[in-house]
Amino acid sequence: MRSTTDQDRDVFVDTLHAAFGRFPETPAEDGGGVWWAALEMDRNLLAVTAEGRPVGTAGAYSFELTLPGETLVPVAGVTAVGVLPSHRRQGVLSAMMRHQLTELRARGEAMSVLLASEALIYRRFGYGPATYTQRVTVPRHRGAFAGLRGGEADAAPAGTVEVLRRAECGDLLEEIYDRYRRTQPGALSRPPRWWASGAGQPPIAPASRYAAVHRDPTGVPDGYASYLIGEGQTLTVDETITANDTSFTALARFVLNHDLVDKVVFKHVPPGHPLRWQLTDFRAGEVAGDTDWLWVRLLDIPRALTARGWFTDGELVLDVTDPFLDEHDRYLLTIQNGKADCTPTDRAPDLTLDVSDLGSIYLGGTTPSTLVRAGHIRPHHPNAAHLADTLFRGDREPHCLHWF
Ligand SMILES: CC(C)(COP(=O)(O)OP(=O)(O)OC[C@H]1O[C@@H](n2cnc3c(N)ncnc32)[C@H](O)[C@@H]1OP(=O)(O)O)[C@@H](O)C(=O)NCCC(=O)NCCS
Repeated sequence: MRSTTDQDRDVFVDTLHAAFGRFPETPAEDGGGVWWAALEMDRNLLAVTAEGRPVGTAGAYSFELTLPGETLVPVAGVTAVGVLPSHRRQGVLSAMMRHQLTELRARGEAMSVLLASEALIYRRFGYGPATYTQRVTVPRHRGAFAGLRGGEADAAPAGTVEVLRRAECGDLLEEIYDRYRRTQPGALSRPPRWWASGAGQPPIAPASRYAAVHRDPTGVPDGYASYLIGEGQTLTVDETITANDTSFTALARFVLNHDLVDKVVFKHVPPGHPLRWQLTDFRAGEVAGDTDWLWVRLLDIPRALTARGWFTDGELVLDVTDPFLDEHDRYLLTIQNGKADCTPTDRAPDLTLDVSDLGSIYLGGTTPSTLVRAGHIRPHHPNAAHLADTLFRGDREPHCLHWF
């Protein structure tokens, strides 16, 4: 296992592509594409054979994650994980994960996050799914908004919408994204170099897009929808970034009123989003692609638990097992006035749970009682699941749409 430097960028990228059975879409001489340009080569690992041949890769980005209560914490965004097909199921990934988690702890990061290519890979390493996402498709002719609250939803939207070419308004989008992600639990920062090339278009597929930018009545930009009209007169919104519901509604109405469009696909909608409730026809919003998105791995449990905001006072004893790192600790979580204290204890536990399940409930997007009912978390008394649900509840549904 060895750490990489900038000199290893090409071999790192080539090894990773070979693991996925692909070739780089943008040649290295053109900067290697958005994703490669953003790699932090001083944070990455190469697994090599005794002869020095690279067979595995694992990387990390330096992100900030927004926690319930609008707290921002530095996290490692694990990325670029791959093992050559010729060297799989021999423990290469396990060795890389062990090495990486030890390094992340040494750097003082209290948690790491990732997006999983397959749901079977990362639980064993202590990661649990913590945010979810869906795709909502609305046929344009059924996309009328309901006149609720005395018809105010039908009134002319306050503010304006302007259409820009996404690649030409990177600074504006970056500013809107940054404001949004600071209040949205589960959201990640997008480092400036991410935007530098292609204005933050989803890496790997840097297709051209338009950005419908919303400004509030005073002219301040407070949201954008990045979109393109493709096959079958389908308008696909790949991300809707809004600082408030008014801005979302204005942008949703804008794309649903677009001429020469048969249907609108809203990608990356959190499962609890009000969009379907806003339509006159609730069934007009067809949900598909319901899946996990951000996985969370706690590395320093007391620091992680005391970092987030809490909304109900109470006490809970958590007995946490971490088989991958061979750890088993019991904590007393005491919440008072929105803040938690977390100390080792030998009191009888309310719940026994794996660190991956703690990652899943941490942001408030998965209720402890769901994991009790699924047989993951073990309650030690009849009220334990309800108590944990009440305490772990967040201020809003966590959501992440950053791809990395
Ligand atoms: C996923 C991948 C990195 C696993 O690497 P690996 O070196 O074969 O993993 P390991 O040998 O360390 O496996 C550790 C354990 O995880 C299991 N495992 C690994 N990958 C798995 C998968 N895709 N599905 C189910 N189980 C998997 C192994 O069976 C093994 O279980 P065991 O300890 O009970 O025997 C590799 O298969 C790969 O490169 N896949 C394609 C690229 C990819 O999906 N990368 C992940 C991006 S998020």
